[in-house]
Amino acid sequence: MQIVMRAGPGVFGALALVLVLAAITFSPGEAAGQAQPIAFPHKVHVQDYRIDCQYCHSEARRSEYAGIPSVTRCMGCHKITAADRPEVQKLQEYFNNQAPIPWVRVHKLPEFVHFPHKRHVRAGLACQTCHGPVETMTVAERVAPLTMGWCVECHTTRKAPVDCMVCHR
Ligand code: HEC
Ligand code: HEC
Ligand code: HEC
Ligand code: HEC
Ligand code: HEC
Repeated sequence: MQIVMRAGPGVFGALALVLVLAAITFSPGEAAGQAQPIAFPHKVHVQDYRIDCQYCHSEARRSEYAGIPSVTRCMGCHKITAADRPEVQKLQEYFNNQAPIPWVRVHKLPEFVHFPHKRHVRAGLACQTCHGPVETMTVAERVAPLTMGWCVECHTTRKAPVDCMVCHR
């Protein structure tokens, strides 16, 4: 603390600016694509090569979370496919080091909200209803506001429950 005090107001100003910038960059209101550790293109996989969303996000139908595929799943194809490309070589490095890829979360609800993917997927809602045209994205972006109003509006329209305890427990 003392070290910070001695650094004077200039540093506080700079620190405040950094914090403000960080808040803007990481705020849930941010809709633009996040920089990811590997430039993973949804468009190439889904639109060009017709890989199903649930081949990679295989938990969506049966659990709370949709899940992000493991490095091993990626390597099922990329041991051979495009193995010479720089972004795929990054992938191979994670694989060789047995390290998970530190993907940056694009969607994140507060801890006090309960959102089960499986109920929504099984009700027949397309992923795109909430996530937009992911198949055209080179960087995954958030299109829905993820506010309570957004949830409740659809629940009201589709006659799904709107009791507080459904989403807060
Ligand atoms: C079912 C096969 C398959 C799986 C699984 C798969 N990919 Fe791919 N991926 C491809 C194909 C096919 C291409 C297009 C290669 C080309 O352009 O010739 C590609 C392209 C890419 C590219 C772009 C390479 C470039 O610069 O042109 C990246 C990066 C990539 N994949 C990363 C991943 C990651 C990360 C995973 C796991 C989350 C993954 N892939 C899972 C088949 C797959
Ligand atoms: C080849 C595997 C693969 C396929 C197929 C795939 N995804 Fe993904 N998806 C990923 C990976 C890896 C990430 C994490 C990196 C990122 O955010 O771009 C991701 C991220 C996402 C995210 C953002 C997650 C977050 O952090 O909030 C959404 C939403 C998403 N995918 C939806 C879809 C939908 C919808 C489809 C089908 C139209 C689809 N994905 C197809 C691998 C895949
Ligand atoms: C009714 C809206 C809705 C539908 C339909 C939906 N999602 Fe989501 N998705 C969300 C919300 C909300 C979050 C944030 C959840 C959280 O933070 O707990 C999310 C988060 C994600 C994530 C981030 C990682 C995770 O597991 O939470 C991925 C990946 C994802 N969704 C993929 C999909 C895929 C693929 C489908 C279709 C099979 C799908 N979603 C259908 C609303 C939806
Ligand atoms: C596009 C429409 C849509 C959106 C947006 C949506 N939901 Fe839903 N939700 C549904 C439908 C339809 C059901 C009923 C599924 C069923 O009948 O099993 C449901 C069911 C649920 C359930 C299970 C209810 C029960 O009976 O236990 C929870 C929890 C839930 N939603 C939470 C959320 C939260 C939290 C959000 C916002 C982050 C959200 N939902 C956004 C359509 C939506
Ligand atoms: C369909 C899901 C859903 C239902 C039903 C629901 N909420 Fe929420 N609620 C959310 C989500 C998602 C958030 C977080 C996003 C936000 O703050 O808008 C939230 C946030 C909140 C917050 C925090 C607001 C803040 O500014 O931090 C309170 C308080 C709250 N809800 C109370 C309630 C009460 C009381 C009810 C019943 C009348 C209710 N909620 C019903 C989904 C729901």
